[in-house]
Formats: sequence, C-alpha cells, structure tokens
Amino acid sequence: MKVNDVVTYEVEGPIAVITAHSPPVNALSSAVRQGIAGAVQTALGDGSVGAMVLICEGRTFFAGADITEFGKPPVEPTLRNLQLIVENATKPVIAAIHGTALGGGLELALVAHYRIAVPSAKCGLPEVKLGLLPGAGGTQRLPRIVGIEKALDLTTSGAPVGARAAKEMGLVDELAQGDLRADAIAFARRVLEEKRPLLKVRDRTEKLDEARGKPEIFANFRKANARKFRGFKAPEHIIRCVEATLEKSFDEGMVYERQLFNELQSDSQSAAQRHVFFAERQAAKVLGLAADTPTLPIAKVGVIGAGTMGGGIAMNFANAGIPVTIVEAKQEALDRGLGIIRGNYESTAKKGRMKAEDVDTRMGLLTGSVAMEDLADCDLIIEAVFENLDVKREVFGTLDAIARPGAILATNTSYLDIDDIAAATERPESVCGLHFFSPANVMKLLEVVRTKDTSPEIVVTAMKLAKTIGKIGVLVGNGFGFVGNRILAARNAQADRLVLEGATPWTVDRVLYDFGFAMGHFQMRDLVGLDVGWNRETTSSANVREILNEMGRHGQKTKGGYYDYDDNRKQTPSPIAMQVIEDFAAKQGIERRAVSDDEIHDRILFAMVNEGARILDEGIAARASDIDIVWVTGYGWPKYRGGPMFWGDLQGLPTVLEKLKTLEAAHGEAFTPSPLIERLAAEGKGFRDA
Ligand code: 3HC
Ligand code: NAI
Repeated sequence: MKVNDVVTYEVEGPIAVITAHSPPVNALSSAVRQGIAGAVQTALGDGSVGAMVLICEGRTFFAGADITEFGKPPVEPTLRNLQLIVENATKPVIAAIHGTALGGGLELALVAHYRIAVPSAKCGLPEVKLGLLPGAGGTQRLPRIVGIEKALDLTTSGAPVGARAAKEMGLVDELAQGDLRADAIAFARRVLEEKRPLLKVRDRTEKLDEARGKPEIFANFRKANARKFRGFKAPEHIIRCVEATLEKSFDEGMVYERQLFNELQSDSQSAAQRHVFFAERQAAKVLGLAADTPTLPIAKVGVIGAGTMGGGIAMNFANAGIPVTIVEAKQEALDRGLGIIRGNYESTAKKGRMKAEDVDTRMGLLTGSVAMEDLADCDLIIEAVFENLDVKREVFGTLDAIARPGAILATNTSYLDIDDIAAATERPESVCGLHFFSPANVMKLLEVVRTKDTSPEIVVTAMKLAKTIGKIGVLVGNGFGFVGNRILAARNAQADRLVLEGATPWTVDRVLYDFGFAMGHFQMRDLVGLDVGWNRETTSSANVREILNEMGRHGQKTKGGYYDYDDNRKQTPSPIAMQVIEDFAAKQGIERRAVSDDEIHDRILFAMVNEGARILDEGIAARASDIDIVWVTGYGWPKYRGGPMFWGDLQGLPTVLEKLKTLEAAHGEAFTPSPLIERLAAEGKGFRDA
C-alpha cells in the first residue's frame, strides 16, 4: 500500500514493513517524514501487526536531513517529532540499514528499538562537515550507545564506520547474512517471539557511567585536536553537547543540543560549508554539452617527465589499477623518479595506510622508459616536463607522430597557453590541460582545462577520470594560470608589494593564518620551493624572490627562504631575507611605512575576489562556485569561509565595490573593480547569481 509518493506500507504476517523510496539518497524530506509517521500510526492501529521494519529502497538508507529544506519554515512532523513517534511506539521498530545511514538518518535509526545492517553498510554523523552538529539527538544518544570517547571521535570527524565496527561498538545489533529485508523481518519475528523489550537508547546509562569523574577525557580530546579544529565552530559545539550527556538529564541535553544546533545553523560557517558541499557536486556537472556525449575508454596512461609532478600523477593511476608508462629524457632521471615513487609507497605502507604487498602490485603497474615510442598504445598521455613552451611544443610535436589517433594528449602546465602547445600538433581537438596540484598523489583538486578546440568527448572523459582517480575535477578555460594560479598571482602581487611597502612576510603570513588558511603565503612559497618556475640562466635580480634564489635560498629544502629552518623544519623569520627585502625596497625608491593588519587583509583578499570576478566574467570559470572549489580544495582557503566568491557574496557586493574603489584610489589599478562586480552590485545580485 502506498502511504504517499515516497513511502509504502506492507504487512507480512505479524510484521509491517515501512519502505521509503526517495531517490537519490532518501534524504528525510517532509514527504518522507510524513510517510513514515503515517505508516507507523497505521501499524500501531493494526491489531495483526506486532513489530515494524523500517527500510529504504535504492542505493542507501536515509542519508540525513534534507539539506535543501534548511532555512525554510519547518513542516510537521519535524524530524524530532517523527523520532518521538517511533521511539514511543508501543510495538518494536527495527531499522534495516544498507548503504549509508548518515546524520538524521542514523539519528532516526537510533530511536528504533533495534538495528540490523548489511555488512557493507556505513553509519556516521557527518553534520560537522556541514558546519553543524547532529541536531536530532545524535549528540545525546550516540554517547549512550557507544561511549563518550567513540562518540566524540565520530561526531567531530564526521567519518562513518563500517557495519562490522558498528556492531562491535553496539551501534548495530545484528548483521544481515543475506537479503536485508528478509533478514530484518526474521529479526523482527524473533524480537516478538522472545518478547524482547522496547529498548530505548535514551534510557541507557552504563556507557555514560564509565566516563563519569573523568573530565580529562574532554580536556585531552580538545588538546589533541586543537590544530584540526582551529577556526571551526562546530567541533567545540559538539564537544559541549557530548559533555552535557554527563551533566544533564536526557531531556535537558536535548534542549541544549537544539540550542547549539540553532546557533550553528544560522552561522555563516555552516552556510559556507553547505555551499562547499553543493558546489563540489555542481562542479562535476559540465554545462552546455549534450547529455549523451560519449566518454572514451582509458585503459592505459602515459606520463612524460618523472619529476615532482610526473611521479605523483603516475601514482594516481596506479592507485586506481590503471597501468602507466612513464617516459623520461634520461635513464638516470627515470630511475630517480621511480625510486621516489617506490619510497612514497613504502612509507605509506610503513605508516599502516596501505598493505605492504600492494607496494609491489602498484609498482608493477608502472613501466619506465626513455623512448616516447612506448606511448603509442596509450589512451591518455599527460606531459609533465619543464615549464617551458619550447620544450613542451617539442614534446607535443613528437607525440603527434607517435600517439594513436583519438588518444587524449594532456599537459600539466601551470601557466602556459595550451592553444600554443596544441598548435604543435595536427590534432588540437585531442589536447587539453590536466592541471594537478603538488603533491599530485595527495591533493584533491584537478583543473581540467578546455581549449577552444578540445572535443566534448575529451571534456566529459577527463571529468569522469577525475572521479575515477579520487579527484575533484573542475572544468576551466584556457587563460593565464587558469583559475587557481591566476588568483594566486593576484595574491602574490599584493603580498610582494606589501612587504616592500613595510609589512614583513611573517605579518602577512599571520594575517592569512588567522583568516583560516592552513599556512601563510610566504610559508607556502618556502614549502613549494622558490625555484619552481625560476630560470637560473635568465636570472636578473628583478625581485626579492629571484634574489633569494640567486643566493641559493630556495625555501625549506635548502633550510632557508623567507624563513630559516632547522633540522626539524622548525621555522624562524630570516633576518637575511628581511635585509634583502629592505635593500630591494630602497633600490626601488620605496619608503617603508607601518602597514596595518587590516590593510594586509583587505589588499590581499579583495584583490583575490576581484580577480575571481574577472575570471568569471571572461568565462574561464563557468560558475562562481567552481572558483570556490578550486581555492578550497587546491589552495587551503578555509572551508568555513566557503571560497573567495562566497566570501565576496557574504560581504555583499556593494561593500566589495566600495572597498575596491577605496583601494584603487590608494594603490592603483590592481583594484579597479571588475565590470561584473559593478554590474551585479547595481542589480542587487551576488556572484551566486552570475
Ligand atoms: N539532503 C539533500 N540532498 C542531498 C543530501 C541531503 N542530506 N545528501 C545528498 N544529497 C544530494 C546531492 O546534493 C546530490 O544531488 P545532485 O544529484 O542533484 O547533485 C545527490 O543527493 C547525490 O549525492 P552524491 O552525488 O553525493 O552521491 P554519492 O552516492 O556520491 O554520496 C552520500 C551519497 C554519501 C549520501 C553523500 O551524498 C553525502 O555525504 N550526503 C550528505 C550526508 C549528510 O551530510 N547528512 C547529514 C545531513 S544534516 C542532518 O542530518 C542534520 C540532522 O542532524 C538534524
Ligand atoms: P620537474 O623539474 O620536477 O620535473 C620535470 C621532469 O621532466 C624532469 O625530471 C625532466 O628530466 C623531465 N623532462 C624534461 N624534458 C623531458 C622530455 N623531453 N622528455 C621526458 N622528460 C623530460 O618539474 P615539475 O615541478 O614536476 O613540473 C612539471 C610541470 O608541472 C611543469 O609544467 C609545471 O609548471 C607543472 N606543475 C608543477 C607544479 C609544482 O608544484 N611543482 C604544480 C602544478 C603543475
């Protein structure tokens, strides 16, 4: 029987089966909640029914509250009221879990009297990733069932646990052996036959009692995670709620949880993190291509260059089980590159993050060569040689003669014009950019660069490939620095200028760190290496960075850049670098002055927003949210600030415009407002509407 469009009700002997079917992830929308509430009432009124099974169709158990309903007026039954109906039901309710029971979904399972799951199921409370806390009793019930310490871990990391682990910690009562529905019905029958009690998690105290009188649990947890939680509001709110389980009654705890949930829900951090969640999914959708555009098979990959990037790029494919041929110019460089890859795998295995036997399996997927001809049978070839147009054009010219027709020819260039590279071939439609980030086996971002000629098949294939190798692909246009590095260049320009005018690298870094970046601008430069992209032969002391390079100060790897580093990589501001800055400023005739933190903040951040607006206006990015994803996933922009465009919208574009005009008057054309900002501000719109 249909209860409504998304919930059905069936009776099998003494068991009522309540099934939700609300694709794609059975989010607990108002319709789903109404359907379940109606079905439970029906079961309670049906004398032939002794117990209920709550189960989902499709790919997963309830994946949580429906995030799209946030901020809208509540519709009855609210999730909490639905939970009261289930928890207070006078007939046992058994939750039958497959896929992912997440957030409100797991919280609903926690008011059932028993839980059964398939072994592949996962349970978690990921609200923290959305800047929220579990707001339907998760912070109060989970500690009562798994204990304080595990609950702290699960709720503040948001990481799900597999069904077996969930069973071990008591979160799940049984694992299904075969068909979940049949096993859940059998379980429900047993509950009835054995007259098992209507267990309510809210009434359990034994796990809480274990933690009483041990306040150090919380102190230690806060201390151990201080770095990870820095800047985020949700983790501390969650810890306070979990603490409340020991200090308050269940009902008081629920009131407290609601209050703290509301605080987070109305905070800009959660808005930012929810924006990032949806932006990431939007980025995967390519606009303007036919839905039936075919993808090309990628069974074998070639990588040219086994340096910093080539090695990491190759690892991505080996990790996904795709064989790779790596071509280097010389045997020695090849051996070195392959050695570094093996070393990386071995150290991962040593840390227990990979099985020891997998090291050889993955290395077995990598074939080294010094002959480009060996790339003839590759479906995709990625070039990662020196950042030099002539070198790259030569490589592509050679490739054109070797690669099979239809193979994708990609470059990992950071800044070069890919049309110029493609012009070295007779098949520019087969050329695209695949811009990985360093370290390429770790960083999640992949800018997929489409030139004026890149074929639609290659675009969809590259975007799909990003997913296959666990990356977040963002489609961008072919312009200087694409999206990420172009905004970085805008930040570079301001940071460099600020230190000449009177700021120090460390004050600039502190301002950015306090804003929430994982590290400061000059710290990042030192880490990446000041010599990346620097040409020894043509050097001319044209800026501070070049002079530091000429002095052999390439950053962390030479124990000196803007900072000095000791043997443990501990940094201290470098008086040598400071002297270089002061001397260079004097040579340029720049009179150093006091530069405030506010000036650093505004010049750097508004320059970035302005550059982002230009990128959007020029169509280099298809959506403002794509720019946000690039900066959040590739450059450490704090998630809780949503990305530069979201941050711009949060300030309000009239404010952004005002700021830019003031900065333009003081510091020149770098701040001339992008026409897009002028237009949107005048129309009362934001980047989100562009
Ligand atoms: N609400 C609304 N829509 C959701 C959603 C949710 N909770 N979860 C996923 N979706 C949507 C996605 O936006 C996407 O939509 P699209 O197709 O239009 O882009 C679609 O469902 C499919 O999602 P994915 O592409 O992410 O599918 P996957 O199969 O890769 O992943 C998933 C499935 C693991 C369930 C993943 O979607 C996920 O992690 N979802 C979020 C889960 C979550 O955060 N739940 C907590 C919500 S907050 C809450 O419950 C508060 C409560 O405590 C009161
Ligand atoms: P790298 O200098 O570490 O490695 C380049 C490798 O290419 C060297 O091992 C060299 O021997 C090899 N090589 C040069 N010419 C060759 C040829 N004709 N055939 C075969 N091999 C050849 O350089 P890195 O840092 O790996 O950069 C490679 C590319 O990736 C550049 O275009 C760079 O701009 C880009 N990139 C670099 C990032 C970084 O952080 N290092 C980040 C993103 C992109």
